[in-house]
Amino acid sequence: MAEIILQTRGLKKIFPMNGVAVQALRGIDMQVGRGEFVSVVGPSGCGKSTLLSIVGGLMQPTEGTVLVEGQDLPHLSERERALLRREHIGFVFQSYDLLVDLTAAENVEFSMVLAGVPRAERRQRAMELLERVGLADKADFLPDELSGGQKQRVAIARSLANRPNLILADEPTGNLDSATAAEIMELLVDLNRSDDVTLVMVTHSPEDAARAHRIIHMRDGQIEETRGGSNR
Ligand SMILES: Nc1ncnc2c1ncn2[C@@H]1O[C@H](COP(=O)(O)OP(=O)(O)O)[C@@H](O)[C@H]1O
Ligand SMILES: [Mg+2]
Repeated sequence: MAEIILQTRGLKKIFPMNGVAVQALRGIDMQVGRGEFVSVVGPSGCGKSTLLSIVGGLMQPTEGTVLVEGQDLPHLSERERALLRREHIGFVFQSYDLLVDLTAAENVEFSMVLAGVPRAERRQRAMELLERVGLADKADFLPDELSGGQKQRVAIARSLANRPNLILADEPTGNLDSATAAEIMELLVDLNRSDDVTLVMVTHSPEDAARAHRIIHMRDGQIEETRGGSNR
């Protein structure tokens, strides 16, 4: 395998719920090579989103290690973790999560504001990214003026803003009709191939999952098996 970009060991997550402990992850060992496309599948509630949140540094594990770019994510300070997230990781969610009062371009620029990129450079990069996802003509549109597929394109452009090495996508086509979902999949596969972005994608679609190099099957907070995908 190529150089490891992401690795977990014995990853566990327990949610305390009204005195009952929900074991969302029960010891996940996984590794992802640089440039790889890995999909994660499994029944609703098996821990896929929890896994993605933890490897993306959005949530702390109860136990276990997570290495991203060799850095021990759970043991970094909040500030260091935020920095690692901003510099190395891009997120794409099922619900797009765009800021509704900002235009497409402003949404893409937003994380660059936090990273301290100067205004002119920000704008130029946002336009390049919107071009990359085929939405240059919608730069000044608000999210409400865009279709679901267009919103997801903006979200993907935003995820690329700080040139991440790793994209974590949680059911990125879950809210889209099948034709639009296929377009978004083409875009993600092309980013992985042409731009060499490592991609970890949760999906309910067996066809989409099969586009990856590897498919991780989860059940009840554990990895049941890992199979090869078609990577086509
Ligand atoms: N914030 C939370 N608080 C309590 N329980 C949670 C929380 N997030 C997830 N869970 C529980 O953890 C389990 C895994 O959830 P999740 O990771 O969202 O699964 P999936 O994404 O595979 O559908 C489920 O039983 C869910 O109810
Ligand atoms: Mg989920």
